[in-house]
Amino acid sequence: MKTQDAVFRQAYPAPPYWVARFDVAHPPGPGAFVLADFGGPLREPLFPATIDANGFTVMLPPRHPATRLLPGTTVNMLGPLGQGFRLGGATRLLLVAETACLPPLLPLLEAAPAVALVIEAPTRAQLPPPDRLPPTVELTLVTRDGSAGYLGPLESQDPAPANLQRVMPHLVELIAWAECACFACANDRYPALATIVRAARIQPPPDFAQALVQVPMPCGVGACEVCRTPTRAGEKHACIDGPVFDMARNFALTL
Ligand code: FES
Repeated sequence: MKTQDAVFRQAYPAPPYWVARFDVAHPPGPGAFVLADFGGPLREPLFPATIDANGFTVMLPPRHPATRLLPGTTVNMLGPLGQGFRLGGATRLLLVAETACLPPLLPLLEAAPAVALVIEAPTRAQLPPPDRLPPTVELTLVTRDGSAGYLGPLESQDPAPANLQRVMPHLVELIAWAECACFACANDRYPALATIVRAARIQPPPDFAQALVQVPMPCGVGACEVCRTPTRAGEKHACIDGPVFDMARNFALTL
C-alpha cells in the first residue's frame, strides 16, 4: 500500500470553497484521489483541483480541518488511488458539472486545445464567477430556476417558459462537437445523461463519455465495500474500478 507524506503549504478562501495547497512527490491525476489523514477516525478523499510537478491544490468546504493546519504541517496520504479521467489525446473536450461537483473537473480546464464547460447550479448565486475560469474556456451557464444562462436541469426536454431557453439542444450540440466528454454530477443523473449522449452520438467509442462517481471511500483499496456502485455490469468499487467510469457502458439504460 503506497503512502506518502505531503506538506501543507497554505489555505485561503475562494467562496464557496477554501483552497488548500499540498506539496507531495506523487500528486493524483485528474479524477484520481488520495486518502489524507487529518487525524479523524477515517481518511478523507482529496481530488485535485490543480496539479503541478510539486503537488496539488484541493477545494474544501469552509471549516474543513485542513483549513486550520499550520503551514509546514506533514499530512500522511494514501495513494494516488483510483482510475482518473482518460482523455486519449482529445483536442475538443467537453466538461459538464453540477456546481457542487465541479472541483474534480478543474484540472481539465486546460487539458485540450479547445475546452467547453457546462455548469449547472440551482440558481444564479451558486454559479462560480466566470473570471475565475481560464478565458480560453467556452462557458455555458445553466440554472434550474432560469435566473441566469440556459434553463436546466440538463436532462429536461420540457417546454421552457417564455423568454427562457432550455439547455438540452445546446448540450446535444456540444456533445456532437466533442471528442471526449467528462461529467461530474449526482450519480443518479448518469443514466439520463448517458441517454442524451447516445442521442447525440449514435455509437460513441469507449470512454467517449466519462462519469465521475462521488461516494464515500474510506479505505480506497477495495476492502471495506462502502463504495459499491451499481452499474450495468453489477456492483463495482468506486475506489478501484472508478471513480471515473465509462458512462455509456456502466450507466446507460440500454446499449
Ligand atoms: S473505499 Fe473501501 S472498498 Fe472502496
